[in-house]
Amino acid sequence: MKFATKAVHSGSYHDPSTGSIVPPLYQTATYVLDEVGKDKGYDYTRSSNPTRAILEANLAALDSGKYGISFASGMSAVDAILRLLSSGDHVISSDDVYGGVFRLFEQILSRFNLSFTYVDTSQPEKIAEAIRPETKLIWVETPTNPLLKITDLEVVSQIAKEHKLLLGVDSTFATPYLLRPLEFGVDLVLHSTTKYLSGHNQLIGGVVVTNNEDLYEKLKFFQKSIGAVSGPFDCWLTLLGVKTLPLRMEKHSSNAMAVAKFLEDHPKVKHITYPGLTSHPQHEIAKRQMKDFSGMISFELKGDIHAGINLMNNVRLCALAESLGAVESMITHPASMTHAEVPEEERLKRGLTNSLVRLSVGIEHVDDIIEDLELALKKV
Ligand SMILES: Cc1ncc(COP(=O)(O)O)c(C=O)c1O
Repeated sequence: MKFATKAVHSGSYHDPSTGSIVPPLYQTATYVLDEVGKDKGYDYTRSSNPTRAILEANLAALDSGKYGISFASGMSAVDAILRLLSSGDHVISSDDVYGGVFRLFEQILSRFNLSFTYVDTSQPEKIAEAIRPETKLIWVETPTNPLLKITDLEVVSQIAKEHKLLLGVDSTFATPYLLRPLEFGVDLVLHSTTKYLSGHNQLIGGVVVTNNEDLYEKLKFFQKSIGAVSGPFDCWLTLLGVKTLPLRMEKHSSNAMAVAKFLEDHPKVKHITYPGLTSHPQHEIAKRQMKDFSGMISFELKGDIHAGINLMNNVRLCALAESLGAVESMITHPASMTHAEVPEEERLKRGLTNSLVRLSVGIEHVDDIIEDLELALKKV
């Protein structure tokens, strides 16, 4: 079955009692047993829920995986993966990860005696150099948030296998339509479903997909034991969103390419990063491992920090907002918003400057997005 067909149908069934073409929303906390010891496969929604099960099956199929485990947020999904480790274990992580992931690693998990080394995973030799006897997990974000670095998953997967390390990939920016990390030998793939997968800025959610039964059993156990589960209504909305994922990703990608070219040629733009541009340092890897380049762009304007801030304050169509990956174009100042909790020294070391602007290109008509940026740039 082709991807677009899977997006619409995988996991779904027509409700046998009514014929409803849309999978039912089981908005329930509990289920009535037939008799003591005999249920219909469900007992309590923290453990399992039919609407969630449909979403999990759907997202697993899209990522070429056997198992999907859905969580209340992308962050609780990351947290569940890290709970596969034990005190004393060491993690090698992409240096340019979403600020919330860095905060979880440094301010919470490090208190439980997990240690983290951050390297530029777009240079896989740096991963190999950082491996220690206690290393258990390589954690890669590709493309990264917000600098859009691309990691060669085939090479990193080889390193992980040679050293018997788990390899987890946060593929939120790519989505399974553009990249399926499990096909490169990755063990665990994660998405914040808040973003492109649900796609409409309506909910917070996360998912982990794997082919490994043992990892699945453990994560399923964490899901019910810790209880950071996605609610039935959020699962149902995500399922509706996923049906149009291929269409949206094509539009996000083509709009972003046009916006990136516009910004690249604009005299007030100092530097632009978009994996679809030949100027991107890992453009060739992105072209090889992704179907298209998604909708995220980051750039800096000439002049001081106020230039970028003025731009963000003057756009009208693009919303000044924290999130990404939805139908609406959104513009963000990572230094004060998504990455505010990464210490400034650390941020600057990684190239995440105070003037960096991140743009999540939506699916509006591209002429309107460009006109909005053009008018705002005149005021800078
Ligand atoms: C790449 C990436 N991973 C994980 C997360 C966390 O997801 P959530 O906000 O759904 O908890 C985000 C949020 O922005 C993100 O950008």
